Amino acid sequence: MSLWKLGPTLLTLVFLQAVYTTAANRNMALKFGKTFDDFVQFTPDMHPVKDSVSICAWFKKQSPADRPGTWFTYWTSSYIYEIVISDNAHNNYMLHGNLDVRSSVTVPQNTWTHYCTTWSSNTRKVYYNGVLVGTKNTQSRSMTLGGFVLLGHDKGSVNEHEIFGGTLFKLNVFTKELSGGEVKEMWKGGLCSRQEAEYGRLRYIKWEDILLEPRNGDVTEVDTGCSAVEWKMQHWNVLYKEAYFNKVFTAGMLEELRSSWDVLEYFVGTNMTDGVIRHFKIFQH
Ligand SMILES: *[C@@H]1O[C@H](CO)[C@@H](O)[C@H](O)[C@H]1NC(C)=O
Repeated sequence: MSLWKLGPTLLTLVFLQAVYTTAANRNMALKFGKTFDDFVQFTPDMHPVKDSVSICAWFKKQSPADRPGTWFTYWTSSYIYEIVISDNAHNNYMLHGNLDVRSSVTVPQNTWTHYCTTWSSNTRKVYYNGVLVGTKNTQSRSMTLGGFVLLGHDKGSVNEHEIFGGTLFKLNVFTKELSGGEVKEMWKGGLCSRQEAEYGRLRYIKWEDILLEPRNGDVTEVDTGCSAVEWKMQHWNVLYKEAYFNKVFTAGMLEELRSSWDVLEYFVGTNMTDGVIRHFKIFQH
């Protein structure tokens, strides 16, 4: 078969591939390999964040403790360290200037850590697990545009010690400076909360979209267990149905919900109020 005849077949295959990869499961994390070839790169329009931004994510540090495994780079031709974030509190570059917070933070290995950095009005802040750990002025200018985001290593210095090799989850970029209270809420909500979704369009680069970006080398999706948590959360909502809500929960009702509801046995005899249901949800985290 000549190549030009094969063309449509190949096109169909490419098309099918595209169709099948568009359904990202937002509860998956990305595990990065340990070489310069293992990365995710994309070129977002940074115009909406040129004067204020917040970048938040959950990550697991999996490189040696002293290494600044760098999970986020925003590289532009004028400033190769426009934004650089590492997993050991060393690199927190914003507008090409660093804020090293190692004196106040020790990042544990193989543990989910929540991170946020915010910037507006020439001031940048860094939060670890909901706590503000550093504040510093930046150059007084706007963010340079036209660069690319690279997840997996420091694209500026390209140093082997800065290869991330860890796991990244729910990296979101917001167009506004989140307040300390908002950052704390996001951390308190926990790994599986949907807190970030409440920001609507202010959440400009979304994790579920990053999962659709092309991956280079060894970057694989790994399960966070959040799908199961989400499934359970949705199931608690059954209790808001008229048959159960604001009624004293009986053994008969428990029987109706039996399969996955043994845990409710303890609550037979309790009035199924909003407070009680919310209590279930919290303790299912
Ligand atoms: C349960 O609590 C709700 C709200 O306080 C109340 O309106 C309802 O009457 C209570 N139901 C029972 C059976 O006690």
